Amino acid sequence: MDIIKFGAVGVNSRGRGVMKEALGNPHFKLCAVCDIKPGELKKAEELFRGEKGISDLECYADYDEMLKNADIDAVFVATDAICHVPFVVKALEAGKHVLSEIPAVNSVEEAKILKEAVLAHPEVKYMVAENCCYWGFIEAWKAMADEGKFGEAIYAESEYLHSVDYRDLKPENYPPEHWRSFNPSIKYLTHNLGPLLYILDDECVSVSAIKSDVVYNPYVTRDDNAVALFKTKKGAMIRILISFGSFTGFDHNFRILGTRGSIMTDPTKSLNDAHSHASFSDIPGSMDCKVDIPVTMSSFSGGGGHGGADFKVISDFISCIIEDKKPKLDVDFAIKISLPGVIAAQSIEEGSANLEIPKI
Ligand SMILES: NC(=O)c1ccc[n+]([C@@H]2O[C@H](COP(=O)([O-])OP(=O)(O)OC[C@H]3O[C@@H](n4cnc5c(N)ncnc54)[C@H](O)[C@@H]3O)[C@@H](O)[C@H]2O)c1
Repeated sequence: MDIIKFGAVGVNSRGRGVMKEALGNPHFKLCAVCDIKPGELKKAEELFRGEKGISDLECYADYDEMLKNADIDAVFVATDAICHVPFVVKALEAGKHVLSEIPAVNSVEEAKILKEAVLAHPEVKYMVAENCCYWGFIEAWKAMADEGKFGEAIYAESEYLHSVDYRDLKPENYPPEHWRSFNPSIKYLTHNLGPLLYILDDECVSVSAIKSDVVYNPYVTRDDNAVALFKTKKGAMIRILISFGSFTGFDHNFRILGTRGSIMTDPTKSLNDAHSHASFSDIPGSMDCKVDIPVTMSSFSGGGGHGGADFKVISDFISCIIEDKKPKLDVDFAIKISLPGVIAAQSIEEGSANLEIPKI
């Protein structure tokens, strides 16, 4: 099987964006798109059938119809962030490989359903599209961790800062029924927790989380700013800050402190340009004067969305199908990076109670 035929469900900005990137992969063919919103479906049709010249593209308003009638091998699920599992399960049951957007699950119940469905269909692949795990510096940190450069991890942290200048906030951009208006920010932590757990090969066992009550964006009902503190199976502490409402530029900062080495991204540089700075016990003097590691998010990529990571995600998924390989971001990984956000949100609701994260 040399060409993997894809259908995409949910073709607003993310669905269209990833499918557009994927056109650069010679083993990818976009055969169908689906969206319940006629406007989004039309935009996808104009982009792919019109601009990109895919004359045989099929457009569906009904997902069941796409699964039943379209000649596809795989589905890319890019529906609302709070609703992926029902689409994933239907695709698996229809014998399709599935690449799911993040977060993979929205509840403990969904995590169980997802795991069962994936296990029940070993003939097809499931992968979560946590693109930040494919950033150049994350791959470099992973190689260092695997070599033992940090020793045992003691503490790790990551911050996701993604806000709008308060002077540009507009109510029409935050319709109350849209998930971006009401979904607690801490549930959107996979871009931060995902890479850390990938590097450290660890999982979260408990969490206590807190939110700020200060209002920055008056048009949303979600908690815009929250911090979660996790304990991991290997005994490390992880802190995740999600800030979708504060006066600061877009950024993802990462840091790991270990028994034999430590590393951090440079928070004074924007994400595209940030190098890493490290202290290693096997490099004399680096405890006082950190080593500059000139690897950025887009190192080792050919460019494209999210520092080239979007293309890498879909290409890796396609190669897993063609070569019949286990995806590195498989269902267990998908749950272990998504469920902690669900439980962190629950902790906030319960007054920062320290809660166990169920093992699924
Ligand atoms: N990995 C990343 O870097 C990244 C970036 C942005 C968004 N995302 C994820 O991608 C997903 C989509 O993000 P978005 O910003 O495009 O969200 P969105 O809410 O704007 O788009 C979701 C689309 O799904 C469609 N949809 C919902 N229910 C449907 C149904 N039953 N049948 C067909 N279509 C349906 C909606 O009409 C909408 O067009 C989210 O899960 C988000 O978390 C990931």
